Amino acid sequence: METVSVMIPEERLLARVREMAEQITADYEGCELKLVCILKGSVFFTTELAKRIDLPIKLDFMSVSSYGDDTESSGRVRIVKDLDESIRGQHVIVVEDIVDSGRTLEFLLEMLKSRQPESLRLCTLLDKPSRRVTDVKVDYTGFEIPDEFVVGFGLDYAQKYRALPFIGKLSITKEDGETE
Ligand code: IMP
Ligand code: MG
Repeated sequence: METVSVMIPEERLLARVREMAEQITADYEGCELKLVCILKGSVFFTTELAKRIDLPIKLDFMSVSSYGDDTESSGRVRIVKDLDESIRGQHVIVVEDIVDSGRTLEFLLEMLKSRQPESLRLCTLLDKPSRRVTDVKVDYTGFEIPDEFVVGFGLDYAQKYRALPFIGKLSITKEDGETE
């Protein structure tokens, strides 16, 4: 059986998103900014963030796959959908839902860097620093969380729970009553 308990309520998420947007607005004063949303998990975070950044914003979307329908990282990264437009000469922020091992981002940032943007930064709603196996540098972090599997606000478990308005901790109880 799967149960979800609230870890970060909606008001706290949105308050933090506002702070992050204010920071980004200040850091990129006078610039045009492109937000690269990593589908599908970052959709909710990206739209809330974009609405609160007081700069001219362009959006583009990319889909990569590093997870199957399980809670363990496979380490394999595959581009499922590439950006529609060039990022050459632009100020780009990659917007992620969560940085876990960092493998997805390590691959992605290297690839985007080779397309010669003017600048490239990383913004994530959640970070699980204890899980990191790469030295990916995160420029903007919403919340550092412990090593728990979380869902909601875009994050899924086997494509479920994305539309929950809060971040919740997922617990899976097996037949024998043991909790994962
Ligand atoms: P990484 O390559 O190990 O950093 O994995 C990053 C990706 O794994 C994220 O973009 C999510 O799609 C997924 N992921 C990692 N941890 C969680 C979690 O707790 N809940 C849901 N998805 C997760
Ligand atoms: Mg993701």
